[in-house]
Amino acid sequence: MEILRSLDAMREWRASLAPDQHVGFAPTMGNLHAGHIQLINAVKQQGNVVASIFVNPMQFGGNEDLDAYPRTLEADLAKLEAAGTAAVFTPTTTDIYPDGVSQHTAVDVPGLTDVLCGASRPGHFRGVTTVVSKLLGIVRPHVAAFGAKDLQQVLVIKKMVRDLSINTEIEVVPTVREPDGLAMSSRNGYLSRDERALAPLFSRTLEETAKRVAESGSDIGTVIAEGKVILSNSGFVVDYLEARHTYDLSEASSLNQETAIFGAAFLGTTRLIDNRIV
Ligand code: PAF
Repeated sequence: MEILRSLDAMREWRASLAPDQHVGFAPTMGNLHAGHIQLINAVKQQGNVVASIFVNPMQFGGNEDLDAYPRTLEADLAKLEAAGTAAVFTPTTTDIYPDGVSQHTAVDVPGLTDVLCGASRPGHFRGVTTVVSKLLGIVRPHVAAFGAKDLQQVLVIKKMVRDLSINTEIEVVPTVREPDGLAMSSRNGYLSRDERALAPLFSRTLEETAKRVAESGSDIGTVIAEGKVILSNSGFVVDYLEARHTYDLSEASSLNQETAIFGAAFLGTTRLIDNRIV
């Protein structure tokens, strides 16, 4: 496995591939778990797979966990090697933001970024789309994998790729869960023992809400309100719990087949997000 620690090294490696060699890509921020390995597996069958590890400062708000975000490079490299990754791109912040984050050209996707995590974390998706557009431009993959746990991120990236005519197919990889149902996330490591024991209730409530919405059809508002009460009474601080259509994130006041329950909630200082298709 090649470790490409600079933009030049990445570009040289990419240029060394024959034009007909297929390249798959899994962008990450490191602290890898089984969900990330699924991204690698999803695009590995199709040829050379490149992963990137870059904790992207532009997608963190001023009051968020950029400094505390776990950096576990050696362990991550071992996992990527075992998964059959051909190359890992670990750029420096200066490689990605040569004039600093605030002076960098940004990519904004309108509409889809105004709701859910976009409303709670202003500027977050601008950071995601800016870095992902750059990474796709540098790595030039045929296909790039993103996890369905971050469904809003997937929709935003798909729109960006279409709008900017980026020649990469976006593959959506199903959420990987712990045996108790909690969606795998690098942030689960922040949970205390007690919080970790409580956390699966978040995923279960989303699952139950999706089931009840499917059954009740029109009474979405009541079912959602009840889901929020269950979470609040159990110690979660609910950021949002909403039924939205998966094609444009519009509010699902009446049900159709492309509806999901989207949720975000704090357990202590840890923010969990998840979604369940209705
Ligand atoms: O999903 C993530 O880990 C990040 O948002 C991504 C896509 C690697 C961009 O920094």
